[in-house]
Amino acid sequence: MVSDGEASFFKGMLLGSISCVLITLFGQINIPHEGKIQDHEHHHLRAPNREDFLKMSEVQRMELSKSIRVYCIILGESKYESYRAILKDTWTKHCDKAEFYSTKNSRLFNTETNDMWLQMRETYKYVFEKYGYDYNWFFLARPTTFAVIENLKYFLFKKNATQPFYLGHTIKSGDLEYVAMEGGIVLSMESMKRLNRVLNSENCEDQSILWKLSEDRQLAICLKYAGVLAENAEDSEGRHVFNTEPIVHLIKEAMSNNPQQVVKGCCSDMAITFNGLTPRKMEVMMYGVYRLRAFGHHFNDALVFLPPNGSEND
Ligand SMILES: *[C@@H]1O[C@H](CO)[C@@H](O)[C@H](O)[C@H]1NC(C)=O
Ligand SMILES: *[C@@H]1O[C@H](CO)[C@@H](O)[C@H](O)[C@H]1NC(C)=O
Repeated sequence: MVSDGEASFFKGMLLGSISCVLITLFGQINIPHEGKIQDHEHHHLRAPNREDFLKMSEVQRMELSKSIRVYCIILGESKYESYRAILKDTWTKHCDKAEFYSTKNSRLFNTETNDMWLQMRETYKYVFEKYGYDYNWFFLARPTTFAVIENLKYFLFKKNATQPFYLGHTIKSGDLEYVAMEGGIVLSMESMKRLNRVLNSENCEDQSILWKLSEDRQLAICLKYAGVLAENAEDSEGRHVFNTEPIVHLIKEAMSNNPQQVVKGCCSDMAITFNGLTPRKMEVMMYGVYRLRAFGHHFNDALVFLPPNGSEND
């Protein structure tokens, strides 16, 4: 028997030696303008134009806002059980339906498992069987994520759910471009269908060799095999709308890079997610996003998503 501690020690040793070899190898090779090339390589999707809305009639807009139906999957380990109540009470009210899946969810798992890829796979299978044809978008988030569903729906306006793609905050890792779980993952109805067709194939089995691959990378490998690619979601100025970090981190980072643009430098007005929130911070976000307002100021948004029935203005 090798204990966990020893195993990590050996992994550490191995990683150390491999890095050493790699540094020696690549240290002598010059890679020109690496950053610039990467900027243009990734796939991305932009938010819609305001003009697209203005051309539509009131009736068309109402129909459209009703036709974008989002099912929210909150997926987390059992240590996040304590988030369940606050999530139910805050942003998830704005999903057309939201459910919390954790390893304590006896419908799906007989035993406690720490295998997040297994958990994610089983959850996607279950959701597809039960709801695959009732919603056109499937949004998966961590329990510590805060999402503004109205902004997600706005972003999805004019995107075709019968096309195979998935979106969020993409990261490039070697040849693989994947949507990071921390920022939230959105699957179109078509990608959900394709995912289900391939989930039981060997391409979707655990691909880890030496180190466990994270569940979001495993998902990307599996989806790629099904012809579904990852798209980075950006606002009209190219800023991320799915954020993998809390606002405070993003602002601090932006301030040190560009002190003239405290908020503008980091955060989109149409941001969809932030991550790393405690339950209390979620309440503060609800206040900031839905309740705080300047008296007498009317927003004139072209698309209207009504708040959930019975909630007091949030
Ligand atoms: C959406 O995509 C499907 C399948 O590719 C296509 O048949 C359909 O015409 C598209 N709809 C719109 C509104 O572009
Ligand atoms: C909202 O809730 C009220 C009271 O529970 C009910 O009478 C009404 O029909 C509901 N409206 C919608 C749109 O579901």
